[in-house]
Amino acid sequence: MIEFAWANRLANPLAAALLEGLRHKPRAVPPKFFYDARGSALFDRICDLPEYYPTRTEIGLLQRHAREMAECIGPAADLVEFGAGSQRKIRLLLAALQRPVRYVPVDISAEHLRDHARALAADHPALTVQALVADFSADMVMPPLPAQAQRRVGFFPGSSIGNFTPTEALQFLRRSAGWLRGGGLLIGVDLVKDPALLHRAYNDAVGITAEFNKNLLVRANSELGADFDVGAFHHHAFYDPRGQRIEMHLVSARRQSVSIYGERFLFDEGESLHTENSCKYTVDGFQRLARDAGFEPQAVWCDDAKLFSVHWLAAPAC
Ligand code: AVJ
Repeated sequence: MIEFAWANRLANPLAAALLEGLRHKPRAVPPKFFYDARGSALFDRICDLPEYYPTRTEIGLLQRHAREMAECIGPAADLVEFGAGSQRKIRLLLAALQRPVRYVPVDISAEHLRDHARALAADHPALTVQALVADFSADMVMPPLPAQAQRRVGFFPGSSIGNFTPTEALQFLRRSAGWLRGGGLLIGVDLVKDPALLHRAYNDAVGITAEFNKNLLVRANSELGADFDVGAFHHHAFYDPRGQRIEMHLVSARRQSVSIYGERFLFDEGESLHTENSCKYTVDGFQRLARDAGFEPQAVWCDDAKLFSVHWLAAPAC
């Protein structure tokens, strides 16, 4: 068995974010830190849970409407997927696309990205696959457009845009409208719905979502040498109708302290560490946000129960 640990606390993004997030109250750490190899694998298991409707609903939309989506994307596209994960959904699009030039899966979880990019490349020998390990919420540099490509198109499925607050989402969309100028963005967005359904999706019966949430602490222990008592934190996920979002927290079961790189943090009983927002939108609300960011919403596909939406947003050339 091999264990890796970082000893330069300022050089590791997780260390910097966790220390910062614990020093300020209310305590919060961005959800991108769930995704090491174990976190990505746990997320894949969430996607297969009966309660977690987004994955299966979006896959249904991609299967049913792949040809219309391919029409929007056009021939000879350079495809960039944000948060590519296990790269299951792009396969549905690739089957319908005309002569895609290159596929650029972007993910923060390096090993998971590498393994799945390899498998995808093996199944598509004519396609150039350029995997990029990156935090796309930060100052990511886009590789230049290949000579044969006619346009660059972004693919951002899964409603991962929901991890951003609407203000952060606007910023991300503005930056991506710049990257995708002359092309567009195909993006999956989870919809506002009955809170009971949302509650079940983030509080599954077998507890995989709780494991996923606690992976942040598991990671801090193994990667940073922190001493979180993982069993002394509870998974807490609830829908906030005013913020139109699911919030996930880790709540301290008792008064306890945690040490990270010699710094001690006290948790009161019931004190929480906010680990994720998952914002939900209406179709109109999301199209408004996209327009504000400089996109032109041109098509939208929804399932009959209006659980999930996939949008084609054109990015004007100038
Ligand atoms: C990957 C951000 C889309 O918000 O539904 C699933 C992550 N968190 N269950 C989501 C998640 C808890 C997921 N996204």
